[in-house]
Amino acid sequence: METSKFFPIVETQDEGYQKTFKNCAELVPTLPRSKGWWLDELFQYQGFWMSSFPIRGSMLINDHFKPRPTDIIVATSPKCGTTWLRALVFSIINRASFDFNDHPLRKLNPQELVLLFEGHIHKDGSTSFLDELPSPRLLSTHIPYSLFPKRMTDDTSACRFVYICRDPKDVLVSKWHFSNKLRPKEVPPLSLEEAFDLFCIGVSHYGPFWDHVLGYWKASVESPKKVLFLTYEDVKKEPLGCVRKVAEFLGVPFSPEEENKNTVEEIVKLCSFESLSNLDVNKSVAKRSERPVSNSDFFRKGE
Ligand code: A3P
Repeated sequence: METSKFFPIVETQDEGYQKTFKNCAELVPTLPRSKGWWLDELFQYQGFWMSSFPIRGSMLINDHFKPRPTDIIVATSPKCGTTWLRALVFSIINRASFDFNDHPLRKLNPQELVLLFEGHIHKDGSTSFLDELPSPRLLSTHIPYSLFPKRMTDDTSACRFVYICRDPKDVLVSKWHFSNKLRPKEVPPLSLEEAFDLFCIGVSHYGPFWDHVLGYWKASVESPKKVLFLTYEDVKKEPLGCVRKVAEFLGVPFSPEEENKNTVEEIVKLCSFESLSNLDVNKSVAKRSERPVSNSDFFRKGE
């Protein structure tokens, strides 16, 4: 049973899980550490700065996750457009199931529709939660590409990754504003200059930012059928083309009938910053006990 001061206790009878929890609880205190951007410290794990929670998530994925050929992973470095990409990919793959006027994205934040992989791998102390999701499973992650197991990243496994990166200057500014919202009042503020220095030396959640981006970019060059690499700026400039590209990559291109019905335009409109940020669900400032952040915190300027 887990006893580490770094993690909430997870009750599980599963011996395999107990072993991973134990390994993680023993490992984390031995890792190099640095100041975090809000409350927690960051630890350097396999070359990346992360809080203890995703380190455990990554270890659990490696030890226990059973990939399916149909799995789709939406991957980002935080503040690169995770919310947007989740919404776009969700609406692309589920376009036949929902009416755009009565769409789940109108009632739920994209985070609730596309779950964070590393956050849910250990739900209730087992993978059964993920095992029970219907195919194609759509999950979101911030975990660097090199930290995924070979059974997910080698060319023979068919699970696919859609990655979005963004201009690092905008990521830094977005991240700084976001961390100011998350930081509890008792923790001293982090100046933009200090955040800039930390970001440049690679100390930010799932950083170094450059290594995160390069890992996915190299994989997209080596395995273009496995990893699709997008940029926030390209999606802003050419949203229709990018949506078509994602649909083709995922093996579900738009049919002539769908093109005639303007399905691509409907998806782009529904997932736009203006549309999502003005929905009641995304204007909510309520914070849940397990998450010190509200839905509205994921929408700032979107430029
Ligand atoms: P800004 O802080 O620059 O406005 P993430 O979703 O990875 O946390 O990234 C958040 C950033 O994406 C924020 O950037 C947010 O405003 C922007 N964003 C959220 N939804 C968006 C959308 N539908 N279209 C474009 N940008 C969006």
